[in-house]
Amino acid sequence: MRRPRSTVGASEVSTAGTPVGRGAHRTPERISDMSDLRSAQWYVGDDRNAYIHRAWMRRGLPASAFEGTRPHIAIANTASDLVPCNMHLGEVARSVSNGIHEAGGIPLELPVMGLGETLVRPTAMLWRNLAAMQMEEMVRANPVDGVVLLGGCDKTIPSLLMAAASVGIPALVVPGGPMLSGTFRGKPLGCGTDVWKLSEDVRGGGLSEKDFLASESSMIRSKGHCNTMGTASTMGLVAEALGMVLPGLAGTPAPDARLLEGAHASGRRIVEVVGEGLTPQRVITEASVRNAIVALAAIGGSTNAVVHLLAIAGRLGLDISLDDFDSVGADVPLLVNLQPSGQHLMDDLFRAGGFLAVLKEVRDLLDTSALTVSGRPLVDHLEDARSWDHDVIATREEPLQEKAGIAVLRGSLAPGGAIVKPSAATPALLQHRGPAVVFDSIEDFRARIDDPDLEVDEHSVLVLRGCGPKGYPGMPEVANMPLPRKLLERGVRDMVRICDGRMSGTAYGTVVLHVTPEAADGGPLALVRTGDIVVLDVAARRLDVEVDAEELASRTPDEATLAGCAKPERGWQRLYVEHVTQASTGADLDFLVGASGHEVHRESH
Ligand code: FES
Repeated sequence: MRRPRSTVGASEVSTAGTPVGRGAHRTPERISDMSDLRSAQWYVGDDRNAYIHRAWMRRGLPASAFEGTRPHIAIANTASDLVPCNMHLGEVARSVSNGIHEAGGIPLELPVMGLGETLVRPTAMLWRNLAAMQMEEMVRANPVDGVVLLGGCDKTIPSLLMAAASVGIPALVVPGGPMLSGTFRGKPLGCGTDVWKLSEDVRGGGLSEKDFLASESSMIRSKGHCNTMGTASTMGLVAEALGMVLPGLAGTPAPDARLLEGAHASGRRIVEVVGEGLTPQRVITEASVRNAIVALAAIGGSTNAVVHLLAIAGRLGLDISLDDFDSVGADVPLLVNLQPSGQHLMDDLFRAGGFLAVLKEVRDLLDTSALTVSGRPLVDHLEDARSWDHDVIATREEPLQEKAGIAVLRGSLAPGGAIVKPSAATPALLQHRGPAVVFDSIEDFRARIDDPDLEVDEHSVLVLRGCGPKGYPGMPEVANMPLPRKLLERGVRDMVRICDGRMSGTAYGTVVLHVTPEAADGGPLALVRTGDIVVLDVAARRLDVEVDAEELASRTPDEATLAGCAKPERGWQRLYVEHVTQASTGADLDFLVGASGHEVHRESH
């Protein structure tokens, strides 16, 4: 097969346009300029090393594959039998591979670390930075010119984006897509959200264990990731708002044939993206992160997106802080009626017009300069979008909620910041004053929460500490603490809860999370005592404990509090605890913040 002299035009999904910026100088003809392709450093030449690199990779490929004129594209695949939400990505990879080949590139599948949210102990978040570091180093170390990122389950897209941002070679994301809606006894069943609801019903006496277990096989109905607006769905859509997905592709259900069509188009498009030199640095900018924050609020997205976006922005040195989530997103209306903030599931969002129809409603809030991997600005892709079902995608004139963005709180209990998601909270609890009931660890919580003698009522504030990045370690999704059984039996379904950990994107309730500094990092959360009065005032963006500042400063954490924080002695956990930053800056490792670049000059032999 003759190598192409020009790239092939992308399909309708890619809507590729005129290259801009650096790409404007890199015409399709220049793809054949061997000095421009990174892989040519390995393969082109008459020396012994080039011989070795070519010889071991030939395996049926034509000589034209190694002349430095055809981009070598890695397909970074997080599929694994232990990542159930990503199991189908092998099929997606084949479509990407076909597209790359068709456009004249050389597709290379690169298995990278995947994380199964429901399985991995102690929490998948502990391993996000390791997955990002592994992927970053594998891309740097290998002869690739571009990379297609295949992710789905919660931590996979964030880790891939963090890595791609650091390496800085052209990249785009193909989100694996959500599973179909589950149903149980005639009603839709949302994964995650309905687990929390049904299990609370069991604890409250409203549902038998037999009925609860009967719902188990109805929840996960097909391939794909969680079908609620949890973290996986959120991060797929956020990646598209960032510009890293071909517009219109994110949110396509995993079993839908259009996912494979989009994957094929993404394979074709990445070859052009390499030709245009369209690196993540040119796509993920302050403007595109602000667009992602607007989108996050409009979709009622997961609070986990805050920590992931901060980490991605940190890799690129962008001027984005925790406060931007409030200043940019807080006044954005909630437009998407999906669990956990609403009723429907991801399949319904796709049927109703999809993500672009949502973005069209907030078009005036989007930065028109932010590019996408299509080569054109995000807003250029909104013209034909429309909502076909206003019960799923509300109009701007009649939103589901006027102001839905994440609120950033500060005060004597969270001097470095904490967040709350008002759209998933009980409005009456957003202003609340009550006595703290403090737990030093998740084990302490589980041991005492259903104790009939525990002094707690619906006005109490449940405080859980030892669950931050250092303390657990890894910042697990435990902040949406189950309510005390005796209150559930009385019909109480929400209380103010405060934690230095995270909560599942599928969870709901008046939960203040990501409290910074965490208890294990010397935060005042470690000093609160049961009975102290805690004041939450979301309108004023305050989270305080009514203890005199001098008295609070004079307290020291007691032994039980210190015992609730982990002190790992070896391996990744030790490295992690010694270097992880706080949630307010993305919980990345301090030595991974910033970019590595892709140059590696030394040879292995
Ligand atoms: Fe994988 Fe929910 S467990 S996305």
